[in-house]
Amino acid sequence: MTLQGKKIVLGVTGSIAAYKAVELVRAFVTAGVSVRVVMTESAQQFVAPLTFATLSRQEVMTDLFTLDAEAKIRHVAAPDGADLLLVAPATANAIAKFAQGLADDLLSTLFLATTQPVVLAPAMDTDMYRHLAVQENLERLRNRGVRIVGPATGELASGLLGPGRLADIGEIVQAATELLCPTRDLRGEVVLITAGPTREPLDPVRYLSTRASGKMGYALAEEAMTRGARTILVSGPTALSSPHGVECIRVETALQMHTAVLDRLAEATVVIKAAAVSDYRVAQPADSKLTKRDAPLTLELVPNPDILKEVGTKKGERIVVGFAAETGDLIRRAHRKLTAKRLDLIVANDVSQEGAGFGSETNLVVILDSGGGVEELPLLPKRQVARHIIDRVVGLRQHKDRV
Ligand code: PMT
Repeated sequence: MTLQGKKIVLGVTGSIAAYKAVELVRAFVTAGVSVRVVMTESAQQFVAPLTFATLSRQEVMTDLFTLDAEAKIRHVAAPDGADLLLVAPATANAIAKFAQGLADDLLSTLFLATTQPVVLAPAMDTDMYRHLAVQENLERLRNRGVRIVGPATGELASGLLGPGRLADIGEIVQAATELLCPTRDLRGEVVLITAGPTREPLDPVRYLSTRASGKMGYALAEEAMTRGARTILVSGPTALSSPHGVECIRVETALQMHTAVLDRLAEATVVIKAAAVSDYRVAQPADSKLTKRDAPLTLELVPNPDILKEVGTKKGERIVVGFAAETGDLIRRAHRKLTAKRLDLIVANDVSQEGAGFGSETNLVVILDSGGGVEELPLLPKRQVARHIIDRVVGLRQHKDRV
């Protein structure tokens, strides 16, 4: 995969992380990429345009209101002008402008004019990043096909600890590379993925559930789709919106997930079950709200079908990948599930570890295979964990095709 000869526009906005964009320019230029830097007015408060001009060996664009600005925008945004628009760091303000379609400076105008893939790497204070307005704007952009990288979690310029740091330079370069030189090694595959929790009603207002947010499964769906697979995502209730280009089937209960998976199984060449399914459901949910009493309440729970086990029995030529969420004795328990459910791979995560499992942006996993292999991955963003899992699926497919 070579980036030589590719052209990107790098938008730099007014965050303290603007100095890290200098590193980005160096990384791209070293890889043979032509980088045209566009700076907002506030970005110039943090880093001088001359720094970027020197490293990129190109004039830095800063001003919308020059005589030839319109021609420049057309030139830079046109298909033969740039292969990608990358904005790093992207502030809350820039993200809001992009989401709302405002065009009151050069970068936001360029964003509206570009027809090429766009990558945004947000950087801001934790509380700003968590604000519903920012989250909604990011979600809106994601739904329009913009690739969002990060932010990372750690210590911020304000001294606060939390999400908001610009993602690692390597991660941003990797995301840009995937869009500049897409790997289509899953072309021809139909990947069926489950994600999120299931909800098992007790009555019309209460339910039993698991703590899954869906992030792991959605990252897998995005990765599989990006690599050329027709991707079907069966999702329990989550706050996430369907990844662009993925067919998403929303379900609530384990029984509904069971039906949806079996309905689509015949099409699937790969099944990955990242959902945290409730093992039990209430035998007889009440028709109306259970009233509070001063006495213990006993609920009768019945087992839900083990969807993955059933998929394993109908495996055929399919590649089947399960997850194991454990709080101890990780490898032994995961290995038992790998064998009992006839899986090719199982991704074991100890959900009692910091940064692993439910709800977090990262995961810490060990991948076991049916040949006895054990691969331990470091703590990584879920999208990178997804990339490793899909790499393993591609490896298995190549192996199966050879024998
Ligand atoms: O969604 P996130 O917040 O990102 O969190 C990710 C995750 C922790 C949910 C994910 O990494 C994970 O571990 N998913 C599997 C959780 C789980 O249910 O593990 P389990 O060990 O109970 O189940 C083993 C496997 O059988 C899983 O692939 C599960 O999807 C499947 N299963 C379980 C029960 C059941 N009735 N049917 C199933 O198919």
